Amino acid sequence: MAIRNKKKQIQDSGGMKQFKKGANQGKKRRSIPPIQNMERNVRQYIVGQDEVVRKIITAIYRAIYLKSIKSNILVIGKSGTGKTETLKQIAKRLRIPYTIEDATKYTKEGYYGGDVEDMLENLLEAADYDLEKAQRGMLIIDEIDKKAGKDTSDVSGVEVLKSLLKIIEGAKYYLSFDEVFDTKNLIIVFCGAFSGIEDIKKKRLGRGQIGFTTLHESDKKQNGYTKEDLVQYGLPEEFVGRIDTIVEMKPLEKEDLVQILKKSRLSIFRRYQKELRDAGISLQYNGKIFEEIAARSLKLDTGARELSNTVNYMFEDVIYNVMAHPGRYSKCTLSLEIVEDNTKYKLS
Ligand SMILES: Nc1ncnc2c1ncn2[C@@H]1O[C@H](COP(=O)(O)OP(=O)(O)O)[C@@H](O)[C@H]1O
Ligand SMILES: [Mg+2]
Repeated sequence: MAIRNKKKQIQDSGGMKQFKKGANQGKKRRSIPPIQNMERNVRQYIVGQDEVVRKIITAIYRAIYLKSIKSNILVIGKSGTGKTETLKQIAKRLRIPYTIEDATKYTKEGYYGGDVEDMLENLLEAADYDLEKAQRGMLIIDEIDKKAGKDTSDVSGVEVLKSLLKIIEGAKYYLSFDEVFDTKNLIIVFCGAFSGIEDIKKKRLGRGQIGFTTLHESDKKQNGYTKEDLVQYGLPEEFVGRIDTIVEMKPLEKEDLVQILKKSRLSIFRRYQKELRDAGISLQYNGKIFEEIAARSLKLDTGARELSNTVNYMFEDVIYNVMAHPGRYSKCTLSLEIVEDNTKYKLS
């Protein structure tokens, strides 16, 4: 098994001497960008999620600065809405190590999957085996909804969630090479699509209207998801009780996809444009092309993810011809039809 082998490798390759324990001691702590700069920066990449981005950044800064307040975050959102990317962008700017763990790979005892210790070891690896750094890193646990068992057919799922409680509470872990990993300053972010949770919310709001509810006023007013919704969905109560911030990514609409293509620093279209420009070719196109790309990408329910596939397809033939004739062309004119048929362009 890969994980076990990796552990073995670590032990074999000199064990303790790899650890830069205390390497940062005595050094000044690297400065963290002011929160408003962080927000402004992340927004250059993540489009259409301004409110959520601010909430996530606030929760993470709270975890860093307000040490006495633990900050466990849950990000709910459909595929391709920017959950992972937002967290990556923030971690990159904070210069903290992070790891993205797929909850479905883990089992309670780790007999046939990984266990919580494996997650921490992965984070340690991401921190170049600097324990101090790893302990202040970000642990992103994805697909957490897949471990929520309403129909209890996946009893082990709920058990995994319960085994994660220790991490959430900030316990110390003994790793396989006699290192103690203290999770008290770890930033933990759970992510999941939670498909079907809208119905739970709708039901709750319906109940609220006819007055058969025991919810607090503040819960009723909240238009996001409540802890009760998550329990209804099948997350154990003691797990939900330890989530401090619940945020919900907005489903991306056509106009959001258009804006991602036009403005985001992650825009694949802009990257092609830049590559061509670097090759001395200026790209000509009708501004409506973004809507065509967005509309085609929207056919699949994978949010902004599909934009890359669409744009890669569009430029396939163009790139081939540019590479086949270096220096020959200075202009590439895209027709709107190129979105459906990638031979619809002119090089001159
Ligand atoms: N809101 C967004 N703004 C800009 N790009 C986005 C956005 N959401 C997704 N993307 C693009 O789609 C890719 C996949 O997004 P990701 O964050 O991994 O989705 P998920 O919500 O499934 O974790 C990203 O790498 C990014 O290029
Ligand atoms: Mg993701």
